[in-house]
Amino acid sequence: MATERTLSIIKPDATRRNLTGKINAVFEESGLRIVAQKRVQLTEAVAGAFYAVHKDRPFYGDLVSFMVSGPVVLQVLEGENAVLKHRDVMGATDPKKAAPGTVRAQFAESIEANSVHGSDSLENATNEIAFFFAQTEILP
Ligand code: PPS
Repeated sequence: MATERTLSIIKPDATRRNLTGKINAVFEESGLRIVAQKRVQLTEAVAGAFYAVHKDRPFYGDLVSFMVSGPVVLQVLEGENAVLKHRDVMGATDPKKAAPGTVRAQFAESIEANSVHGSDSLENATNEIAFFFAQTEILP
């Protein structure tokens, strides 16, 4: 199995409810290592660029507004098959469809305020990590 890195974002609904530690515990218990982490306030320009892939979707404006509504925690997670493992522990985008025990089943409020983001492929993970982190900020 390959060691991979993926980008994780703990979203404003979760930072507002002081859930960063509980969510990090789920990640760490799954075997993922947090090799970079910073708490930031995104601007509309940065959030809009990050979610540009969704710019033609009806929810794009609301998604960008939500992502700037409070601090987020940006993370690089590392481990065996990290991209898929992270998506497994996050659960489905819609918390109503998320498997029991996943982060979204436990903590998400809605399909928008769904507590966490994770890269959906290794290629996107590489690009998303480079979008937010310099190599010197990642400490395995
Ligand atoms: S989809 O529908 O399969 O493309 O959804 P997905 O790629 O998993 O996630 C899309 C991101 O947009 C956020 N979002 C919504 N998705 C679907 N419907 C509605 N109404 C919606 N509102 C917001 C969703 O939380 C995903 O965010 P990220 O940060 O990528 O997980």
